Amino acid sequence: MQPGDDVLVHAGAGGVGLLLTQLAVARGGRVIATVSTQEKATLAREAGADVVIRYDQLDDLAGDLPALVREATGGAGVAAVYDGVGRATFDASLASLRRRGVLVLFGGSSGQVPPVDLQRLNAGGSLFVTRPTLGDYTATTQELRERADELFEAVRGGRLRVRIGATYDLAEAADAHAALESRATTGKVVLTV
Ligand SMILES: NC(=O)c1ccc[n+]([C@@H]2O[C@H](COP(=O)([O-])OP(=O)(O)OC[C@H]3O[C@@H](n4cnc5c(N)ncnc54)[C@H](OP(=O)(O)O)[C@@H]3O)[C@@H](O)[C@H]2O)c1
Repeated sequence: MQPGDDVLVHAGAGGVGLLLTQLAVARGGRVIATVSTQEKATLAREAGADVVIRYDQLDDLAGDLPALVREATGGAGVAAVYDGVGRATFDASLASLRRRGVLVLFGGSSGQVPPVDLQRLNAGGSLFVTRPTLGDYTATTQELRERADELFEAVRGGRLRVRIGATYDLAEAADAHAALESRATTGKVVLTV
């Protein structure tokens, strides 16, 4: 994304969502976030989201969400969608992009996205889809150190706030997973030993 771009962040109060929102705003972007509760809406706004959409309240996610995103972007759609929800949001994400927009599919909290007809990218406006994994962006020790330095520098300097929404003992890891799966968590879930 570039400064001035509108972007859409799904699960905006989640562990990745709260960080992504702050990073996008710091880069000069305007964030539209989706969340499923009022508490999560407040957190997303505190992280810098300009528009927050309760996607749990939409009757037809694939139709209603893109319409709301276009309404919030003067009809254009967003330059990028950051989608860690996956199966449930993929169609809405693709339909929310502006011409030549980028869908960054980084997770599948609701399930993995089934195979996609690539002609949809053509029809949607010469769209891009990428499916990144952290390991490929920290592939060498040097790259890992550079990214870690940049990240922790931002945290230390107060430019990036990390919310720890819940802490579990490692022995309770199953409970932590159950909480994540039930959409009950906000921010990061930390396991301690
Ligand atoms: N590619 C990578 O390298 C990478 C790195 C880190 C994480 N990830 C992936 O990114 C995603 C987000 O990770 P996270 O740790 O930050 O989790 P998270 O976003 O804090 O938790 C998942 C959130 O997804 C939303 N959600 C929507 N539909 C859901 C469903 N059917 N079941 C469960 N959750 C649902 C919920 O938020 P609402 O209640 O607001 O809908 C939930 O709180 C995960 O899929 C994770 O595997 C990928």
